[in-house]
Amino acid sequence: MTADPAPQPPGEEHRPVEAVLRSVELVAGYLPEVNILNGCNVHVDPGELVGIIGPNGAGKSTLIKAMFGLVPVRSGQVLLAGDDVTSLPAHRLVGLGVGYVPQNNNVFPSLTIHENLEMGLYLRPREFSSRYAEVTDLFPLLAERSAQKCGSLSGGERQVVAMGRALMTDPRVLFLDEPSAGLSPLMQDAVFESVQRINQAGVSILMVEQNARRCLEICHRGYVLDQGRDAYTGTGHELLNDPQVIELYLGTLARIS
Ligand SMILES: Nc1ncnc2c1ncn2[C@@H]1O[C@H](COP(=O)(O)OP(=O)(O)O)[C@@H](O)[C@H]1O
Ligand SMILES: [Mg+2]
Repeated sequence: MTADPAPQPPGEEHRPVEAVLRSVELVAGYLPEVNILNGCNVHVDPGELVGIIGPNGAGKSTLIKAMFGLVPVRSGQVLLAGDDVTSLPAHRLVGLGVGYVPQNNNVFPSLTIHENLEMGLYLRPREFSSRYAEVTDLFPLLAERSAQKCGSLSGGERQVVAMGRALMTDPRVLFLDEPSAGLSPLMQDAVFESVQRINQAGVSILMVEQNARRCLEICHRGYVLDQGRDAYTGTGHELLNDPQVIELYLGTLARIS
């Protein structure tokens, strides 16, 4: 028989699950006095796959970069499992369990797949073999083609290498910036399947996507970002069926009959 759990302090009996990642009223920008994020609130609960859509220039990439310590935060907070990690440098965030796959230049083309995966864990080489086993278990292609130079891979395969590299550090939350950009529809499907597989393996994901409709179809929840603010949020299904979201961000063809 297991012991009863310890009683919780009064008032905390029904405390909601702590988000694995949260931005609170985040304000950030590149140039002095020009804010790109204007008070952005998003969160990812443990195990969630969360999508961010929105027009070009809305600040989607900036939001991810600001949460990953790559764009100066002017006010607001970034919380990792409730701990304030605002403005920590990227390498510290990686050490705390945050992974990031940028939109461009996310693999070393002159290196092999194996070498790219090694680069993902160059600070912790002793963990390499166990992490390599787990990541190649998820994506067998990475082991089958381990000696192939990444420059000779297709766009979709390169995305898998980039995601595999980010997974080498065993992140609890992974940022993906437009993983399907520039890929054929077939390759896009393969990439979205890979994203779901990573999520099902227990990694919480925050994914920015230009392919808004596909993104909302596979996400548990989504946000529409507009002019640096979270304009709409809901389940993927709710957003796909929200008349205003359809009208403003998805186009009439996106309506689900
Ligand atoms: N390195 C930068 N320096 C200055 N402004 C930038 C930089 N990167 C992006 N911006 C500006 O920030 C705004 C939001 O860009 P971005 O976050 O890339 O949008 P999205 O990813 O939603 O398309 C745009 O107006 C863009 O011009
Ligand atoms: Mg972008």
